[in-house]
Amino acid sequence: MAPPIVLVSNRGPLAFHGHGDDLVATRGGGGLVSGLAPLVSGTDTVWIAAALSDADREAATRGIVESEGIRTRTLAIDAAVMAKSYDVVCNSMLWFLHHGLHDLSRRPVIDAGFREAWTAYRAYNDAFAEVITAEAPEGAIVAVQDYHLALLGPRLRVARPDLRTVHFSHTPFAPPLQMRVLPHDLAAELLEGMADHDACGFHSARWADDFRQSCHDILDREPNTFVSPLAPDAADLRSVAAGRRCEAEVARIDREVGHRRLIVRVDRIELSKNLLRGFRAYDQMLADRPDLRGTVVFRSLGYPSREGLPEYLAYRSEVEALAEVVNQRWGTADWQPIELDLADDFPRSVAHLRRYDVLLVNPLRDGLNLVAMEGPLVNERAGTVVLSREAGVHDQLVGAARSVNPFDIADQATALAEALDLDTATRTAQAQELRRRAEARTPSDWLREQLAAVG
Ligand code: G6P
Repeated sequence: MAPPIVLVSNRGPLAFHGHGDDLVATRGGGGLVSGLAPLVSGTDTVWIAAALSDADREAATRGIVESEGIRTRTLAIDAAVMAKSYDVVCNSMLWFLHHGLHDLSRRPVIDAGFREAWTAYRAYNDAFAEVITAEAPEGAIVAVQDYHLALLGPRLRVARPDLRTVHFSHTPFAPPLQMRVLPHDLAAELLEGMADHDACGFHSARWADDFRQSCHDILDREPNTFVSPLAPDAADLRSVAAGRRCEAEVARIDREVGHRRLIVRVDRIELSKNLLRGFRAYDQMLADRPDLRGTVVFRSLGYPSREGLPEYLAYRSEVEALAEVVNQRWGTADWQPIELDLADDFPRSVAHLRRYDVLLVNPLRDGLNLVAMEGPLVNERAGTVVLSREAGVHDQLVGAARSVNPFDIADQATALAEALDLDTATRTAQAQELRRRAEARTPSDWLREQLAAVG
C-alpha cells in the first residue's frame, strides 16, 4: 500500500474568508497549488501550511479542515514571529541569496536584529515540526516545500524517525560564494536543516550542484539530491483558456491591439524577473529598427508582491517610470509602445498567452518559470519564446526557445527583433516544438518523482 503523504509549505492550497459559521475556503493561487491541488484532492494527503490571514488563523483552531476535497491543516504562528521569519529571513535574506540579488556593497547587514529574526525563523520551523510530529500518520512521506522551511530535517529525524522526508526547493540555490555571506553557524544550520532530509530536490541540475557544493564547502558533507522539474497542468490551463472570461479577453485584445504584433510578459513585480532590462531591450530594438515602430505593442502583465519590502516598492516605481520613458520616447498619438497591466486577472493573463507573437521570459535567475511552458501550451499564433539562460526551465526548452543573456541588452533587443521577423514556417515549427516540450511532463510526474526520491 502506498504510504500516506503530508505536504508542507508556507502558502497553503486554501485561503479562508469570513468567520464563525461563515468561514469558507477558496483555492489559493500560484503554480504549486494549481499543479498539486487536483492531484491531492479527494485523497488522504494532508497539506500543512501557515495561516496568512485572520480567517486562516480561525481555521487553524479547527484542526484538519477539508474543502474542495483538500485536507488542510493551517498553522497559526505568532504574528511577530511570522513577520520576522517571512520578511527578514525568507524574503530579504534567503530569496536574495538564492537569486544572487544582494548588492553586497550595501546589503545584507548582519546585526543583532538579523540574529533575532533568525531566532524567529527557527521558531517558525519549530512550530511546523511540532504539528507535523503530531499529525503525520505512521510511516508517512513528508514533502517539504521551499526556503521558508529549511530547518525541518533534523527536527523530524529526531521526533519521528518513522517518517521519510523530502525537501524541494522551488528557487535556484546559493553557491558557496553567496552562502558564505551568512555567518558560518547560520549557513551550517540551514544546510544541515535541508541535508538531513532523506533527499533534497531541485528544478534544475544547476541548482542541485550549487547546493551540493555549498554543503561540501561549509559542512564537508554530500547530501542526497535529485532533479525533477515541475510541469504546468495543461488540462487545467486549457480549461481556463477555453472559458468565457478568457474568450472575452481575447476579443478585447483583438480590438485593442488590432493588426499590431504583440510581445507579452507575465510575472510578479519581482526583482529577479528583470522587467527593467526587458524594457531597455525593447527600447533598444525600437532604436535599432525604425521599421518596427508603431507595428508592435509590449504588454507586461504583472502583479505587485512583497510590497512590505522597500526594495520591491522602489522596483515597482522604477518599472513604471521606465515604461513611461520608453512610451514618451517612441509613442505617437495612436500608439503606446508599452502597456503595463497590474490587474492580476488570471483569465486575462491566459488570454495574452493565447494571443502573443513573442513571449519574453528573461529572469536574472529563476528556479524554474512555469510561464515559459504555459505560453506554448495555449498560444494560438505560432508565437515564439525569448528565454533567459538563467531560468531553470531553459534546461527543457533549450533549442526550441531563443536563448538570451538576461544582462545583455543588445542580445535581448536582437532576439526580440529576430522573433518578430521569423517567417511563418519557422515560427510554426518552433511553436510546435515548444508545445511538445511543454507537454512532456505533468505535475503528477513531479510529485511521483519527489516521493520516489525517498522511496
Ligand atoms: C514563487 C516562487 C516560490 C516562492 C513563492 C513565494 O512562486 O517560485 O519559490 O515560494 O513565490 O511567494 P510569496 O508571495 O508566498 O512570498
